[in-house]
Amino acid sequence: MDTDKIKRLNAALYMKMWGAPNAPHRELSVLTTLNGKKHSTLLIDTFSKAIKEADKLNLSKYEVRGGENVDRINVWPGEHYRLLPGLVKAINATKVIEIGTHNGLACLAMLDVLPKDSSLVTYDIMPWQKFKGTNLKEEDFKDGRLVMHNADVSNPHVMDQHAKVFQEADMIFVDAPGRAEFLKQMKRIGVKEKCLVIIDDIRLWEHQKLWQRIALPKLDVSSLSHFSGTGLVEWSSKEKLFY
Ligand SMILES: C[S@@+](CC[C@H](N)C(=O)[O-])C[C@H]1O[C@@H](n2cnc3c(N)ncnc32)[C@H](O)[C@@H]1O
Repeated sequence: MDTDKIKRLNAALYMKMWGAPNAPHRELSVLTTLNGKKHSTLLIDTFSKAIKEADKLNLSKYEVRGGENVDRINVWPGEHYRLLPGLVKAINATKVIEIGTHNGLACLAMLDVLPKDSSLVTYDIMPWQKFKGTNLKEEDFKDGRLVMHNADVSNPHVMDQHAKVFQEADMIFVDAPGRAEFLKQMKRIGVKEKCLVIIDDIRLWEHQKLWQRIALPKLDVSSLSHFSGTGLVEWSSKEKLFY
């Protein structure tokens, strides 16, 4: 039996033992004291603005795309799709990066508010057309704002080729396995001061340690974003990245 299957069976057993509630998607998590004492007024301010923007947004127009999980695009809190464009608006981001394109829901959500002449560069190891449940269409790329690269920027050689994109970014959404490696590469090539870095799934067991280790100013905003955890980080090249 493969390790993932054993983990899933163990998780199901734990949830049964502890009387966890039923839900369409359940994950194990652990409550811990927060490691990291750096208060960030910038993150508090950004997040306050972002939730007001998210509250006003309606992304249900994309449900007609009919792809995987599109019925979740306007669910907020619970999913991050309304918060992401909220964050774009809060900081007036014009250069945004996503690592982990998958079915394109976050792309659609952020494109919804990104102005003309802005850019959303999304990375995945699979071309978007190969995802059976994609919600993207060729027309989403037509005006030039959305660009996709099939590239693994956790690889230093690949990151070197894309360094300029990262150095100029206002906001970077990290949503692919190997989160720590992407952060290390970002540190190496030098991301802009105060760039807003968003990390998905920080409450999942496998990513909680990473969230704890981050030594930069950070804010866990999971209750008003993705149920699996959303973390905001205020990037600083002068401070150490990890404890
Ligand atoms: C959770 S999904 C992303 C979901 C998407 N960001 C959203 O919110 O709609 C994770 C994606 O990361 C991709 N991935 C895995 N390893 C990667 C890597 N090294 N670089 C970029 N993408 C990667 C997977 O192919 C998958 O599509």
